Amino acid sequence: MLDGKRILLIIAGGIAAYKSLELIRRLRERGASVRAILTHAGAQFVTPLSVSSLTGDKVYQDLFSLTDEAEMGHIQLSRDADLLVVAPATADLIAKMAHGRADDLASTALLATDKPVLIAPAMNVRMWLHGATQRNVKQLTADGVAVVGPNDGDMACGEFGPGRMAEPAEIVAAIEAHFAGNAGVLAGVKALVTAGPTHEPIDPVRYIANRSSGKQGYAIAAALSALGADTTLVSGPTALASPTRVKLVRVETAHEMFAACEAALPVDVAVCAAAVADWRVDHAANQKIKKTGTGLPSLSLIENPDILHALSSRKTARPGLVVGFAAETENVVAHAQAKRAKKGCDWIVANDVSPATGVMGGDRNTVHLITAASAEAWPQLAKSEVAARLAQRIAAHLKVDAV
Ligand code: CTP
Repeated sequence: MLDGKRILLIIAGGIAAYKSLELIRRLRERGASVRAILTHAGAQFVTPLSVSSLTGDKVYQDLFSLTDEAEMGHIQLSRDADLLVVAPATADLIAKMAHGRADDLASTALLATDKPVLIAPAMNVRMWLHGATQRNVKQLTADGVAVVGPNDGDMACGEFGPGRMAEPAEIVAAIEAHFAGNAGVLAGVKALVTAGPTHEPIDPVRYIANRSSGKQGYAIAAALSALGADTTLVSGPTALASPTRVKLVRVETAHEMFAACEAALPVDVAVCAAAVADWRVDHAANQKIKKTGTGLPSLSLIENPDILHALSSRKTARPGLVVGFAAETENVVAHAQAKRAKKGCDWIVANDVSPATGVMGGDRNTVHLITAASAEAWPQLAKSEVAARLAQRIAAHLKVDAV
């Protein structure tokens, strides 16, 4: 919760500005008060009226506005907050911040403040990867500015890669982590996450697979990394690009996934979110199987290694905390409790994958967190929120263990 916290939100000019409206709503729901500065470019994307309707306050736009300055000068504005959040933080505003420029209200407030600052960058992938932007972000980090995101994904400009602003839920999580003194709470912790489906070859052109998108596992890797964990993500084939600051190891088969997980050990926490194929074809054909006209080919299947079970039952280098997933369509809690015991893992995140929930491939998830002691029902949440909550829980657990 953010009861009584005062946030100065600076909305710069990017298509992601629409997400900042949602951010304001979520911050206020958690008890924070939000005052907003909207840059001229930002006002091309969202209107001052929408921003002020959501903050319940006037919107500050002009450095040289007589009325603004009479009510609250820009210096006071920048100090009368507990935290400054820049979302979206454009390449231009980041550059201004890194160089200490102050030529409009937003950059002036950022230069004049004595309060902590969090930025959520959002820009085209080339602009993000450009040496100049990377240098500027490095400078800001060295100056003590916290950064959340950007994430990988499809961009409004039609390109793909890092540059999408972090989701409002992730920004809220970063803000809560800041106030809880939690930011960087997983620094020094090594995490392993598996994600996506596996592809088990039948012959060089055909394979057995499943419908896992990998979204939940990627979000968990991003959330752990956001709290400072040194995170390896072992992923089967997906259409997703790597979250920033995560070591991504791409694999195809269950066997390759198993080997990549073992290579990542030792780790403090392992989260197995992959939908590993239970079976593979014994002796996949070396050449494409042809129609012979003399009957159908038959596939003989053998069982794949169970990575979750293997990690949980290791005699040496067992991860301190092993978290599995269970996809269930009925009796979710009872089935997941049985699965936790069978796999030997510490926690199970049980998701209800009955078709009505739209979980497979969708952006939301309804889960239960099953531990030895309890079964907690979480509300339906965005996958990014499930990830952020799980990362917080992991951090709390590892911290308790450490004392
Ligand atoms: N898992 C794994 N290796 C496998 C199979 C599963 O690591 N070869 C992990 C998954 O990553 C997940 C959990 O085990 O964390 C799911 O277990 P599984 O028995 O496959 O459960 P469901 O997919 O829910 O299937 P079922 O109900 O058929 O057992």
